[in-house]
Amino acid sequence: MPIRAFIFDLDGVITDTAEYHYLAWKQLADEEGLPFSREDNEKLRGLSRRDSLLQLLKGNVIDEQTMQAWMRRKNDYYQTYLTRITPQDRLPGVTRFIEDAQTLGIRIGLGSASRNARDVLTRLDLFHTFDVIGDGYSVVNTKPAPDLFLWVAGGLRVAVPEAVVFEDAEAGIDAALKAGFWTVGIGHSNIGHAHIALPDLTETSPRDLISRIEALRTTRE
Ligand code: BG6
Ligand code: MG
Repeated sequence: MPIRAFIFDLDGVITDTAEYHYLAWKQLADEEGLPFSREDNEKLRGLSRRDSLLQLLKGNVIDEQTMQAWMRRKNDYYQTYLTRITPQDRLPGVTRFIEDAQTLGIRIGLGSASRNARDVLTRLDLFHTFDVIGDGYSVVNTKPAPDLFLWVAGGLRVAVPEAVVFEDAEAGIDAALKAGFWTVGIGHSNIGHAHIALPDLTETSPRDLISRIEALRTTRE
């Protein structure tokens, strides 16, 4: 089966919003007297807003109304940071890599847990680049469940073995592997279990990557 689609995570793959998520959670945590470090923030990569708050609470229990209010507050802080995003904030290699993929006829999808994904894509001037946008509103079960990537592949009309998922988060790679996608881990966090791991998209091309995947496929057959 040929590779026909690339599905990208947003935060940490297309742009680096992890710092803004950190600053927003940190502000909430400080105001509420909860300990929260950059190291803690690394564990939130790819997790939904609710799952992130649950991690931040470290087993402390608060009522649903307070949870809603805290998530809203964190999101307000986060959205203030998002106003700073411009097309310059695309991660290195992203623009060329996606353009080259489109030239090869590869379909482009987004699979992000974020409910701010459309806003971020618009600020990056990438909204119209994506054939299908899956975000924090698309499915009920968030990463590490495979549902979001399956939803995007369905929208792109490709079969699972025809698509490659690009992810910077352990939860995201787990989600993609569970569904049976080819996976490319980006960055330096816990992505060692991806089929291919890269520091970023600067040193590779879509053609290169597809050849590497085809080689992997052959060795498995
Ligand atoms: C993911 C981020 O992309 O989106 C997580 O990696 C974040 O850190 C999640 O919690 C949900 O984002 P949002 O914008 O809906 O709060
Ligand atoms: Mg991510």
